[in-house]
Amino acid sequence: MAPTTDLRVLIGRERIAARVQELGAEIARDFAGQEILLVGILKGAAVFLADLARAIPLHASFDFMAVTSYGRKSQSSGVVRLLKDLNEDIAGKNVVLVEDILDTGLTLSYIRDLLLDRQPARLRIAVLLDKTSRRQVPLRADYTGFEIPDEFVVGYGLDYAEKYRNLGDVCVLALPPGK
Ligand code: IMP
Repeated sequence: MAPTTDLRVLIGRERIAARVQELGAEIARDFAGQEILLVGILKGAAVFLADLARAIPLHASFDFMAVTSYGRKSQSSGVVRLLKDLNEDIAGKNVVLVEDILDTGLTLSYIRDLLLDRQPARLRIAVLLDKTSRRQVPLRADYTGFEIPDEFVVGYGLDYAEKYRNLGDVCVLALPPGK
């Protein structure tokens, strides 16, 4: 990847790694002695899920969903379309929904309601990042890595136009005007 001056590190990889360990330990405590199903929202949560899963000393299986939000990439429109559903039935299971970032909350509240309809035993939400100031629907994650200001971030799974997902740090990206 070509170096760019448009990126500024917001949360470095060491802080992320330490926080992910803490979140994993918290989840393990809450579900002690039980099995869990980690449901990742593609594609942004893939990196977080991979690290979080290895920080949880419980039997954990994985499943993934993909959704798309209509509208410009850097803004959520609130209209969510399901691109890929889960492979597994989640009825009666302990589900931890894993997402990269909670912004307006529209995407995650849509997915949460969809999953609650399927009657899991428990449904908890884990997010790496939370832009609390942007919330449009009341939604709180059960496990939050970091609260961040209202800036557009990339890296550690998060993209801008499919780029930067493989950065190890969470970085603020200076977007061109109007994006
Ligand atoms: P929400 O529906 O507004 O909560 O948006 C959630 C989705 O918007 C996330 O899963 C991301 O895909 C995307 N998103 C929101 N903020 C950012 C950001 O700062 N960087 C990259 N993607 C973001």
